[in-house]
Amino acid sequence: MNIFYKDGEIATRNLSQGIRVYDERLIQDGAEEYRIWNPRRSKLAAALLNGLEGLELNNDSKVLYLGASTGTTVSHISDICDDGLIYAVEFSPVSMKKLVRLSQKRNNIMPLLADATKPKYYLNKVEKVDLVYCDVAQEKQSELFMDNMDLFLKEDGQGLITIKARSIDVIQKPKKIFKDEAKKIKENGYSILEKIKLEPYEKDHIAFLVEKSF
Ligand SMILES: C[S@@+](CC[C@H](N)C(=O)[O-])C[C@H]1O[C@@H](n2cnc3c(N)ncnc32)[C@H](O)[C@@H]1O
Repeated sequence: MNIFYKDGEIATRNLSQGIRVYDERLIQDGAEEYRIWNPRRSKLAAALLNGLEGLELNNDSKVLYLGASTGTTVSHISDICDDGLIYAVEFSPVSMKKLVRLSQKRNNIMPLLADATKPKYYLNKVEKVDLVYCDVAQEKQSELFMDNMDLFLKEDGQGLITIKARSIDVIQKPKKIFKDEAKKIKENGYSILEKIKLEPYEKDHIAFLVEKSF
């Protein structure tokens, strides 16, 4: 995979050299430029630094990204899948403006202003994908994650969801919330391959890497 680990940090090779997407550090190494991937700004970076190892992202992977925001994490996936495509779904018009600007500099990002709870609205725009990534911080995030996987995930594809306990219930213990969300996912025909807590980067968050059960 196109992810580089050094001295406790991770980085991706910059697809649009000289251009920063957020406040990330750029490192030049010969002809290549790398973007340091900040785990406090991206839950995928936090999961990778905390040991996520089974994620399959190739340079030609197709990704459906739910909750793209302004494109912080999307931009690193765009570096990794330089010959692939990221369908980046976001329902905030304010974030979408930045995401559209990002997609103008990177031709492997397709921004979609849409509500991820209504995947049928983008059914004719999105093809089958290798990865469904979900980071919407919503109460019904597991449900919308599974609805999207049911429609768009290839048979041998993977899903990755980050769950923020407080978005689901502010009173319940995170451990119980994570257990209940895992149960829902398993009951709906998916297996959980890895469970990665995101501390110290994000409090009371977990990431689940999933695939279809056979
Ligand atoms: C935690 S932020 C995502 C950060 C982003 N994934 C990153 O790492 O750069 C959650 C985003 O999900 C978006 N969102 C929440 N519910 C959504 C929905 N139903 N459909 C589409 N986007 C949604 C929010 O507007 C927000 O931008």
